[in-house]
Amino acid sequence: MSDAPEPAPPRSAADSRRAGGRAPGGPKVVLIGPMGVGKSTVGALLAERLGTGYRDTDADIVAAEGREISDIFIEDGEPRFRELERAAVRAAVAEHTGVLALGGGAILDPGTRGLLSGLPVVYLSMDVEEAVRRVGLNTARPLLAVNPRRQWRELMEARRHLYTEAARVVVATDGRTPEEVAQAVLDALEWKDA
Ligand code: S3P
Repeated sequence: MSDAPEPAPPRSAADSRRAGGRAPGGPKVVLIGPMGVGKSTVGALLAERLGTGYRDTDADIVAAEGREISDIFIEDGEPRFRELERAAVRAAVAEHTGVLALGGGAILDPGTRGLLSGLPVVYLSMDVEEAVRRVGLNTARPLLAVNPRRQWRELMEARRHLYTEAARVVVATDGRTPEEVAQAVLDALEWKDA
């Protein structure tokens, strides 16, 4: 007889959920949604609550390229940025088991959408008034710089169905604090004990 410890019995999905774990090999939560909705703030709070790491594909792209995202858009154009973003999402989904936030336009790329299938994707939504309040006057976001309300409507008309289709759950952020949004995400994904 050997002294080797018995292998642990396999955990059921319910055990796994109760223990705050999910099968290894993918992020616990993937946040999508428009710019300014609070993906980074809420993502960092969620990571803290779940005792895990936070990763952001915009930051991964900036680190890999050594340039700001606005410079990549200006120098190489949006199609090249979407390619870099797809590669960043592919790497993050394969490597990261914590909370992952994607850039607001990531879901525009069909290849990126394919990488999200089967993952616990959460769409953080907000209405136009909230968007104008949060990002309308922010010149660092040139997509909304001229006529924020109209540009927001156009942007969301093109994207809303893609966010909804890619997501397992939708969490509205209007009038909620980041802590309340984080709690709503945990509730929606049934991480009740986190
Ligand atoms: C973009 C959103 C940005 C960033 C890039 C393009 C978009 O990310 O990826 O400027 O097309 O909506 P945030 O949503 O984190 O601001």
